[in-house]
Amino acid sequence: MQPDTVLVTGGAGYIGSHVVAHLREAGERVVVLDNLSTGFPEAVLDAPLVVGDVGDAGLVRRILKDHDVGTVMHFAARTIVPESVSDPLRYYGNNTAASRTLLEECQHAGIRRLVFSSTAAVYGVPDGGRASEETPTSPINPYGSSKLMTEWMLRDLAASSPLQYVALRYFNVAGCDLRGRIGQCTPNATLLVKVAAEVAAGRRAQLMIYGTDYPTPDGTGVRDYIHVEDLAQAHADALAYLRAGGQSITLNCGYGHGYSVREVVDAMSRAHGRPIPVQEAPRRAGDPPVLVAECQRIRDVLGWSPRLDDLDVIARSSLAWELRDGVSHAA
Ligand code: UD1
Repeated sequence: MQPDTVLVTGGAGYIGSHVVAHLREAGERVVVLDNLSTGFPEAVLDAPLVVGDVGDAGLVRRILKDHDVGTVMHFAARTIVPESVSDPLRYYGNNTAASRTLLEECQHAGIRRLVFSSTAAVYGVPDGGRASEETPTSPINPYGSSKLMTEWMLRDLAASSPLQYVALRYFNVAGCDLRGRIGQCTPNATLLVKVAAEVAAGRRAQLMIYGTDYPTPDGTGVRDYIHVEDLAQAHADALAYLRAGGQSITLNCGYGHGYSVREVVDAMSRAHGRPIPVQEAPRRAGDPPVLVAECQRIRDVLGWSPRLDDLDVIARSSLAWELRDGVSHAA
């Protein structure tokens, strides 16, 4: 039987575009919906792209029908934590209200499978810096709240309709396509690995280390960095799980161990061949000292088996993307 088409919202963005490439290589039919507010049309490679909003009910309805969509992967969202603090309604509108519209159209169209991009930000600051799926959710910013509210909508919709979902709570996603076709193009990026790669590529003068007095082995913040290609595989595994009749579930996506800011700096320096310039700075508001996934469940339930759990691979692929020929929109 020919599998259904997968609608990927936000498929022109950093994570979505890697998932689109992965699905297409696996022979999936894909259609992308992206408003290009932060994505780039070239990031979808040769996948069909519809430019528009997830919150546009009529447009979503047409796509679901015209493309014979059976599964939705929902990435489209704003993701900048400080921006969510200064402009919360934008996050509740773009992330929560637009998701409600998407879900309503999915319900009307009888969509039975949905994979949702959630975030470790739903945990806030968990005790001991480790979070399992059973850790109480307690977001500390509107970004995390906007995503958690969508998880709740999914939970309640799945309880009252045939729709089943996998909510993937990403930890710190990093790295780029190992074939160098796509990468992270976010302007004014704040994510550590991206910023470190920009410094190594000579596009920024130095990297600020935000906080050197945390209660961690070297005093800097610790995170669970997961390679975007392993994350893309997790989405493919979630799709297979739902197609096989799997029940709705929420899963952490991380490797289960963390690296400090200094360890990331060292990895980028190795990739670069010489030390990247750094400057120590005060802590950044709202940063937990440690955030690492308990992540056995995704291996048990989806059979997910990461291949790129290696900080040097993450650093090298990020730097290769920054150094690629013909950099245009990425600066
Ligand atoms: C990211 C995600 C967040 C998610 C979290 C999970 C985004 C925008 N944020 O946030 O949604 O909940 O992962 O762990 O997607 N740092 C520096 N210098 C820099 C940049 C960062 O020292 O220039 C430090 C930070 O203080 C922190 C670590 O590096 O200790 C990681 O920061 P960052 O890459 O910004 O990710 P998170 O804040 O963890």
